[in-house]
Amino acid sequence: MNKEIIVDLNELDKYLKKINSIFLTKNIINKNIDCDNIINYYRASSALYKYLHSYDGAVHMALNYDGIFNKKGYYTQLNEIFDLINVSEVKSVLELGCGKGFNSIFLAKKFPEIKFSGIDITDKHLKIAKRKSHHIENLKFTYGDFHKLDFEDSSFDFIFALESICYANDSRQVLSEIFRVLKNGGQFVLYDGFRQIGFESLPDNLVQAVILTEKSLAVNSFAKIDTWLEIAGKAGFKLKVKTDLSKAIMPNLGKLQLLARKYFEFPFLSKIFLQILPQDMMMNTIAVLLMPFTMHNKAHCYYKIVLEK
Ligand SMILES: C[S@@+](CC[C@H](N)C(=O)[O-])C[C@H]1O[C@@H](n2cnc3c(N)ncnc32)[C@H](O)[C@@H]1O
Repeated sequence: MNKEIIVDLNELDKYLKKINSIFLTKNIINKNIDCDNIINYYRASSALYKYLHSYDGAVHMALNYDGIFNKKGYYTQLNEIFDLINVSEVKSVLELGCGKGFNSIFLAKKFPEIKFSGIDITDKHLKIAKRKSHHIENLKFTYGDFHKLDFEDSSFDFIFALESICYANDSRQVLSEIFRVLKNGGQFVLYDGFRQIGFESLPDNLVQAVILTEKSLAVNSFAKIDTWLEIAGKAGFKLKVKTDLSKAIMPNLGKLQLLARKYFEFPFLSKIFLQILPQDMMMNTIAVLLMPFTMHNKAHCYYKIVLEK
C-alpha cells in the first residue's frame, strides 16, 4: 500500500476535528439527500472530477491490483465486463448511472453488433455522454432513474452499474426493477461501495467518518453488503460472483487523500476557499480524506458482484 496514505485510527480524531472546524459537521450528518442534491453535487463537482480525477471522463475508482495507482485502472472494471459479455450471447446491454459515458462508449466500440443503452439523472453528465457518443450508432444515452426503469419487461441480456447503485434510496425497488427488465439467464454486474458487515459495532469516530464520507458524496447511506445481497436474493437473483476489491481501490484513494490533506492543512485558507467555491464541490475533500480510513478499517468495502436472473 502507498506509504503516504493515512489510515491509522489514532489519526482519525485529529482529522474529524479539522473537518468540524471548517464545515458544519452536524448539518452534514443530518442532511437528507434527494435526487436534486445528487444532480447539484455532480454539477458542482464536474471540474474537480475532470481535472483531479479523470480527464477522460471516468467517474469511478481505478482498480489497481498491484497496489500502485495507474489511470489504466479506470479500465479494469470495463475489461472484466468485456470478458463477461464476450463469453455470453449478449445482444442488448443497459448501463445504470452511465455518468459521462466513459464505460458504455468503451464497450459499445468493442462490440459494434450489440445494442447499448445508458441512463442517468444528471443532465450535465448526460450532455457530455451524448456529445462524446453522437457518432456511435449502437449506443443511446437517455434520462432515466433506476428506481423506475422506462423499459419493457425482459428488455436486456446484460445490465451493469459502476458506483451508481450506492445512490439508491430504495434497494428493494431498484433490484426488482433490474430483475424485471433483465431477460431470463441475463446477468447484472455491479462494482460499488457498501457498508461492511458488523458496521453497528464499530467505534463512534469510525461511524462518524462513514456517515460524513457518504453524505459528502451526496449518498444518503451505502447499503450494508449482507443486507443488500439478501434483498437481491429475495428479488429472485442468483449470486454468481462476490469479490471484495477494497484493497484494489486504495491506491486511487491514497492519491486523492494526499490532495485533501493539503486542503485541510491551513484551516484559515480552507475557510476562504469554502466562501468562494461551491460547498457541494468542497465537500469532496471530506470524503477523500476519510474514505481511506473507512475502507482500510473495514467500515466500508468495495465489491464486484455478479447476479444472474
Ligand atoms: C459515481 S458516478 C458513476 C458514473 C459512471 N458509472 C462511471 O463509472 O463513470 C454515479 C452516477 O450515478 C448517477 N445516478 C445517481 N442516482 C441515480 C438514479 N437514481 N438513476 C440513474 N442514475 C443515477 C449519477 O448522476 C452519476 O452520474
